[in-house]
Amino acid sequence: MERMLDAAERLDREELAELQLERLRATLRHAYDNVPFYRDSFDKAGLRPDDCRTLADLARFPFTTKADLRDNYPFGMFAVERDQVRRIHASSGTTGRPTVVGYTEHDLDMWADVVARSIRAAGGRAGQILHVAYGYGLFTGGLGAHYGAERLGCTVVPASGGMTARQVQLIQDFRPEIIMVTPSYMLTLLDEFERQGIDPRSTSLKVGIFGAEPWTEQMRREIEERFAIDAVDIYGLSEVIGPGVAQECVETKDGLHIWEDHFYPEVVDPFTGEVLPDGERGELVFTSLTKEAMPVIRYRTRDLTRLLPGTARPAFRRMEKVTGRSDDMVILRGVNLFPTQIEEIVLRTPGVAPHFQLHLTREGRLDALTVRAEARAGATPEQRAEAVRAIGAAVKDGIGVSVGVEIVEPETLERSVGKIKRIVDERPKGSGA
Ligand code: DLL
Repeated sequence: MERMLDAAERLDREELAELQLERLRATLRHAYDNVPFYRDSFDKAGLRPDDCRTLADLARFPFTTKADLRDNYPFGMFAVERDQVRRIHASSGTTGRPTVVGYTEHDLDMWADVVARSIRAAGGRAGQILHVAYGYGLFTGGLGAHYGAERLGCTVVPASGGMTARQVQLIQDFRPEIIMVTPSYMLTLLDEFERQGIDPRSTSLKVGIFGAEPWTEQMRREIEERFAIDAVDIYGLSEVIGPGVAQECVETKDGLHIWEDHFYPEVVDPFTGEVLPDGERGELVFTSLTKEAMPVIRYRTRDLTRLLPGTARPAFRRMEKVTGRSDDMVILRGVNLFPTQIEEIVLRTPGVAPHFQLHLTREGRLDALTVRAEARAGATPEQRAEAVRAIGAAVKDGIGVSVGVEIVEPETLERSVGKIKRIVDERPKGSGA
């Protein structure tokens, strides 16, 4: 195993810090010299790239937000000539302009390396067949996974998302050992295996590398048991590179090692922006250390987590599984609630399938939330009634707020083909989000 690691994975913390500082200073200079947005924002803060003398000095530099990327649409954040950009990806952008990201040849190479490293940490090996069911196209999931798997030496099946019946057939016929897919689409595949009368535990799959959306330990257990595989977490975002920013190791399954030789993490207080010590929960912020086409300085991910010391890869700090995005937080009568908290409760409730939605409505001047979860096939009326009670009580006791609960018929809630949308906002428009 040791022999297979990248050189960076064998550094000690001190050597890594030295490398990070050198790369950080170069990145700040590159951004300042080549992106008007960064030059302005550093100038306004009265800072020059060389004012960063230690890693801690980074905290003096201004943040970058998604709004900054949108304001510089489409190519304003690029730090190289357009003809040096080999590829573009973009996020759909629920409101208005998409967020555009660019890669030089060198960036694509680094990206393939970190994804290869991630797949290896997940237990993947050269020579194995790897099924990619992340969407291909502008989304970074499909192509990001694809080139990383090729780099590692896998045989890649670029299935992309959708056409679920055919995916099941491909898995049966090609016999992949690894699958890369969103956890919610893995559940859709599970249904399809069962519909076709195939025992999901009987497939060739050994490892699933799941990400692109939050998922809980309960979901890990559900997927691992029902498919008889190891389920590990992969994290990333397009603004920073795509999938492969951080990866959970299969031997420990204890959170995701951040590939800190390329992506420097900070966790900040989401309200004050103050840097928090490792171990405290807050918003994850990333600074790229080696990117050419689109360096990002202190990019606010809106993802909530905390930093922990390295384990299976001692030099690389871990991030705890993301509990949610600040955007997905529902504020209900003053209480903050994340879909993952409901996922934990729904998945441990007997008689209920791992499919649920959160319906937000308005009653008078107050927001109300109804958890709509699917009964498992064969659940009795008594079990359903008990599930309504149990979910309501668990939310009330655990989160501290009352919600409605409805148990609907099996196979009635919309299934995911990629990233699942948990919150269905039925509040009148203009009533505030
Ligand atoms: O979702 C990249 C990706 C593809 C990651 C495939 C992993 C696997 P975006 O579309 O830019 O990029 O969305 C990034 O998705 O800020 C998180 O909110 C969420 N996210 C990604 N991975 C995880 C994860 C890709 N493992 C946004 N756990 C991020 C929780 C995740 N949330």
